[in-house]
Amino acid sequence: MATTIAITGKGGTGKTIVSALIIKHLKEHAAGPILALDADPDANLGTVLGIPIKKTIGDLREETLEKINDLPAGLSRTRYIEAGLHQIIAETPKVDLIAMGRSEGPGCYCYVNSILRKFAEDLETSYEWVVMDNEAGLEHLSRRTAARVDHMIVVVNKSPLSVDCAKRIDKLISELKNEIGRKYVLLDGVGEEKIAPLRARLNPLPLEYLGNIPYDQTLEDCVFMGKSLFELDGGPAVSKMNEIMKKIRET
Ligand SMILES: Nc1ncnc2c1ncn2[C@@H]1O[C@H](COP(=O)(O)OP(=O)(O)O)[C@@H](O)[C@H]1O
Ligand SMILES: [Mg+2]
Repeated sequence: MATTIAITGKGGTGKTIVSALIIKHLKEHAAGPILALDADPDANLGTVLGIPIKKTIGDLREETLEKINDLPAGLSRTRYIEAGLHQIIAETPKVDLIAMGRSEGPGCYCYVNSILRKFAEDLETSYEWVVMDNEAGLEHLSRRTAARVDHMIVVVNKSPLSVDCAKRIDKLISELKNEIGRKYVLLDGVGEEKIAPLRARLNPLPLEYLGNIPYDQTLEDCVFMGKSLFELDGGPAVSKMNEIMKKIRET
């Protein structure tokens, strides 16, 4: 069974960078294939990792719903969806990526969704790690009711709004039907002088403190230039994430 790590937090706090650094760590230091799941409708994990996405699960769902009543004779709905599934997995030697895209609209998606969910559940068993980049609302995660999350990481940056958001997320997490292993808070890009006051505000929450991923100019430049974070050769953010992930993997 795969070990699942889910990342969440307010928009702009560094969730995608944190997800990418975790995936980079696992790619370079852990055994086994990794499934990266981009569960933020504003999908950009693929861009940061340098793995292009052709089609999201949301695109496939909409497309299937449009065509489902006009399929050529002899092509069943299940076959049609299954044929589309291979287009949504972006494969690289150790890391595969799937983007969830938009969550469900007002149409009746039950049939298509049950096939897609079964597909996702079957698929995840063939990976050692599943790393999920979520939006703050945890929309996609709350729909995957059966899926266990081993490590849930809430990202907070120097914005006090991201602390308020962490509080709301903590409440959402407690309402999830998913089985959650450990819950953590991780700071991203916070200056030394702000770490203690932020920790004091976060202290009432039942989240283990993981540390602060320092601001890293080379990382920012890498993102700006559109280069994959896999090409980043060390640096303060990568070193800190390696230290944190080593701890998480030992627990
Ligand atoms: N530790 C860091 N060092 C340098 N730049 C960072 C760091 N964390 C985040 N950034 C920058 O902040 C931007 C927003 O982060 P991102 O991970 O996309 O936020 P979110 O996914 O939460 O919306 C990134 O594109 C990156 O340029
Ligand atoms: Mg993001």
